[in-house]
Amino acid sequence: MGKKGVAIRRAKQSDLPNIISIENDSFGKDAFSPRQLKYLLKSPNSFFYTAILNKKPIGYIILLKRKGSKTLRIYSIAIDAAARGMGIANMLIDISKVLVSKGKFRKLTLEVNENNAPAINLYHKTGFILFGHKPNYYHDGSGALRMYFKP
Ligand SMILES: CC(C)(COP(=O)(O)OP(=O)(O)OC[C@H]1O[C@@H](n2cnc3c(N)ncnc32)[C@H](O)[C@@H]1OP(=O)(O)O)[C@@H](O)C(=O)NCCC(=O)NCCS
Repeated sequence: MGKKGVAIRRAKQSDLPNIISIENDSFGKDAFSPRQLKYLLKSPNSFFYTAILNKKPIGYIILLKRKGSKTLRIYSIAIDAAARGMGIANMLIDISKVLVSKGKFRKLTLEVNENNAPAINLYHKTGFILFGHKPNYYHDGSGALRMYFKP
């Protein structure tokens, strides 16, 4: 158990309804479909963690591995709007860093909407470094910042 009774564990099938609703609330048109989330949950190429409070998923992070690559990509992270600002995203990033420090992976990478100040702050605070920009990356035409973390 971490902050205020929040525990992190691998996500399972029964967590999906809550995760789908957090994903939709958080990303709108850019949200993964329920089918994609279900696939990511089972895929041998992903790590899918959820933060649990009172037995209910209140946030999650999805990390993707690529064959033959030592880079782990943060594919999605979102926290239920009612549970934001409590340090839960921070906890999920910390878990991801453990995977890297264990040596199987060398770094974490991610893309973040250039207008998403909370997320950009989160990544700066947790030690990510800006290394690129992809214009016109999201549905609304905004660009993505590319960032990495290396222990
Ligand atoms: C971005 C997001 C994941 C942060 O989750 P969270 O659990 O609220 O974040 P934490 O409480 O762990 O905060 C960690 C740091 O993030 C930054 N941060 C979080 N919310 C912020 C806000 N509203 N405004 C500015 N900075 C913010 C701060 O640097 C914060 O550290 P601090 O509290 O010491 O200032 C959450 O706002 C969210 O789910 N947003 C919608 C989905 C999304 O945008 N995901 C990222 C896609 S790349």
